[in-house]
Amino acid sequence: MEVLTKAPASTEASAAKLATDTFPINGTDHLELYVGNAKQSAMYYQAALGFELIAYCGPETGVRDRVSYVLQQNKIRIVLTASLQPDSEIARHVALHGDGVKVLALWVDDAESAYYTALKRGAESAFPPKTLRDEHGEVVLAAIKTYGDTIHTLVERSHYKGVFMPGYEPRKSAYPAKSVGLKYVDHCVGNVELGGMNKWVKFYQDVMGFKLLITFDDKDISTEYTALMSKVVSNGNGYIKFPINEPAKGLKKSQIEEYLDFYKGAGVQHIAVATDNILDTVGQLRANGVDFLYVPENYYEDVLDRVGHIDENIEDLKRLNILVDRDEDGYLLQIFTKPIQDRPTVFFEIIQRKGAKSFGKGNFKALFEAIEREQALRGTL
Ligand code: FE2
Repeated sequence: MEVLTKAPASTEASAAKLATDTFPINGTDHLELYVGNAKQSAMYYQAALGFELIAYCGPETGVRDRVSYVLQQNKIRIVLTASLQPDSEIARHVALHGDGVKVLALWVDDAESAYYTALKRGAESAFPPKTLRDEHGEVVLAAIKTYGDTIHTLVERSHYKGVFMPGYEPRKSAYPAKSVGLKYVDHCVGNVELGGMNKWVKFYQDVMGFKLLITFDDKDISTEYTALMSKVVSNGNGYIKFPINEPAKGLKKSQIEEYLDFYKGAGVQHIAVATDNILDTVGQLRANGVDFLYVPENYYEDVLDRVGHIDENIEDLKRLNILVDRDEDGYLLQIFTKPIQDRPTVFFEIIQRKGAKSFGKGNFKALFEAIEREQALRGTL
């Protein structure tokens, strides 16, 4: 199986980190969303987001109770799963949370050993190790619970040559695949309840050997009305980055509280996907009908005073409403979609890193004001 979702990093730095990595993870294997109608969602991921349908399971492949569509774009793999029955774990998940991310699957060399290590360090089991086999080889899966109803499936696939995993058949779409240049998962953000942030940071540190990368307090992330706090944890090789947000006290209801109200608890807030050419990617996504958060034109009046020289033309950024921020290592360009399902919960971030390793702190205020305008329209501010 090809290598998926490995972000570039310097070899020397990786070697040094690997020596002390107590929970080796190669990268993101896939993300699985439970949705109400996987067939139609799969079309949105293809037509709007530029993914290609590569595999499928359902009644035609011997699976009676659900369907799953596997979509791929470069190193990003998304599985969309829907229940065929009114009373199943998947159906109950969708009834409670709406469409949402169920699985953040991590690619490991030894799923069984990773699973038992995690349990020994305090993780709760979602399911014990199991080996799936077909004519293309075998995949070992095991899973542990994280925040809310979200789980981490540990995927061992070194002995598998098929398109995704046993139980799935290769599937092509009549829709012509047209990549928009999304490359790999840069980070996945969780929203947790008030008081939950430190608990889950400690979970990733204690159970999975992650390191605390950055802390943002309510002074960093607040507007006139709302605030939140965030800590970012990262795994040994740095390929996996999980920012964890919790609401902070503000005059009005924060976007995190709105998420928790609609998702009915903690869950994945956004999936950041990287591109090498954000102007091209966002131009195509806009042409495909993807909705983005709007940041007012005055954002661009003084942005270059803040970030200094950038390679891109500021007029192009303004036209596409792309944001820019700088840290000590370089700069980054980013933009956020509006929620991609009916409930104001999960959304995507498109990010291009030009050296910067941070998350766009300089844009937080403009972004949160943009989200507040959306909240006001929904009557949830
Ligand atoms: Fe982000």
